[in-house]
Amino acid sequence: MALSQTELKREVARAAIRYVEPGRILGVGTGSTVDLFIDELAAIRDQVPACVSSSVRSTKRLEALGFKVIDLNELGDEGIGVYIDGADEIDPGFSMIKGGGGALTREKIVASVSKTFVCIADASKKVDVLGRFPLPVEVIPMAAAAVKRRLEALGATVTLRDFTTDNGCSILDAAGLRIEDPKALEDEINSWPGVVTVGLFANRGADVLLLGTEAGVKTFE
Ligand code: 5RP
Repeated sequence: MALSQTELKREVARAAIRYVEPGRILGVGTGSTVDLFIDELAAIRDQVPACVSSSVRSTKRLEALGFKVIDLNELGDEGIGVYIDGADEIDPGFSMIKGGGGALTREKIVASVSKTFVCIADASKKVDVLGRFPLPVEVIPMAAAAVKRRLEALGATVTLRDFTTDNGCSILDAAGLRIEDPKALEDEINSWPGVVTVGLFANRGADVLLLGTEAGVKTFE
């Protein structure tokens, strides 16, 4: 019988445990796959001195399981060794669309100070070209209409998500983009006034992809 998407997520969550560096601060992403990863992590809690979390959601789950969660500002120059997070889509160059769970800004910040980004995803997330999943863009609320118009000018169909981020901002979801050059689009949207973060992780993509498939977990590096 075929494995469910949740079972595939659980498999990659388990496989990610071997990337945790004992004794080092761990970066933890957000989402249903990461929730399963946090549950698996509980078995090696004594090896994780502290975590930096990318959302209130993950912080609560980590703390409920007895992990210490520190603010990124408490971290020294050493940064974070490994950051483990999911994705909504990932392409062959390891560029990703992220932010389906609304945590894209903090995810991008934590990823930016991490040496290795390990992406954990079920097989449905692997695509040839990004854009089937609507691209999330976090915006300062007063800029929502202006940024929406600019995204529409690129050919997207844009909806304002009924959601407020951990940073008190809004999210626009831009559907219908075929993203052939993710780095260029990330740079362009980042340059628009009012944009906090675009959910394209291309300039700093993943380093390792653990993909949950029917044939087992595949590792791409
Ligand atoms: C949250 C994210 C998640 O990593 C992404 O939405 C994947 O989520 P899930 O593991 O639930 O499929 O970017 O902002």
